[in-house]
Amino acid sequence: MTDSNFYWDSFYSSNRSKVIKGPSNFARYTLELLPQYSRIIDFGAGNGRDAYYFAENGFKVDAIDASKSAIEAIRSLSHPRVICHHGSVLVIADLTDSRKRDFLRPLVFYSRFVLHALTEADSESLLNLLGASNGIFSYVFLEYRVVEDREYAKEFGTHFRRFLDHTTLVSTASCWRGYEIYSNSIGKGFSRYGVEDPVLGRLILRSVCD
Ligand SMILES: C[S@@+](CC[C@H](N)C(=O)[O-])C[C@H]1O[C@@H](n2cnc3c(N)ncnc32)[C@H](O)[C@@H]1O
Repeated sequence: MTDSNFYWDSFYSSNRSKVIKGPSNFARYTLELLPQYSRIIDFGAGNGRDAYYFAENGFKVDAIDASKSAIEAIRSLSHPRVICHHGSVLVIADLTDSRKRDFLRPLVFYSRFVLHALTEADSESLLNLLGASNGIFSYVFLEYRVVEDREYAKEFGTHFRRFLDHTTLVSTASCWRGYEIYSNSIGKGFSRYGVEDPVLGRLILRSVCD
């Protein structure tokens, strides 16, 4: 467990009324691309806003988060299609291993606003895991804050954020075996909230394996 997770524990236990509950724009966008019957791994699911949305739309979701209070929030939604997992990158590895035996169901990896919340070490583990996954995920959906966002006002003030270099990430991902870049973009207007219109990167990969 990292220091930043203590932040998320208090964030989800003390900010309940302020935390957004409806689905993110990124989740709405993702929904349009999801293959039928996908099973989604939502990594860093937070209060489960997007996991719940996917589940309401008929998809099974494994929601992973390192914060206990985030997991409690997801459990309280008690959606029969959402399974909660408290933990971090190792949980993805375990789930990928067990879910890939369910070969009729496309496995999808989704992670919104998490890459910039990870420590350098956790980020490296995640990217290594995705890079070694050999196209096992039909799609990989990533949305994150980028370096261009650093100086803009933040609705929830200053806390640990590791702003990403979008071009570097795209170039890293373009070398991952088993995937092609489906789309990548950077800009404002993706996720307006309160005083914020953050500059975000979006990277979507598609498996090239049958
Ligand atoms: C900004 S929130 C995003 C939550 C949700 N995806 C959303 O879009 O609303 C970042 C989330 O990442 C989780 N997180 C941070 N580090 C993590 C790690 N190493 N493993 C798993 N989850 C982590 C936090 O607990 C928090 O719930």
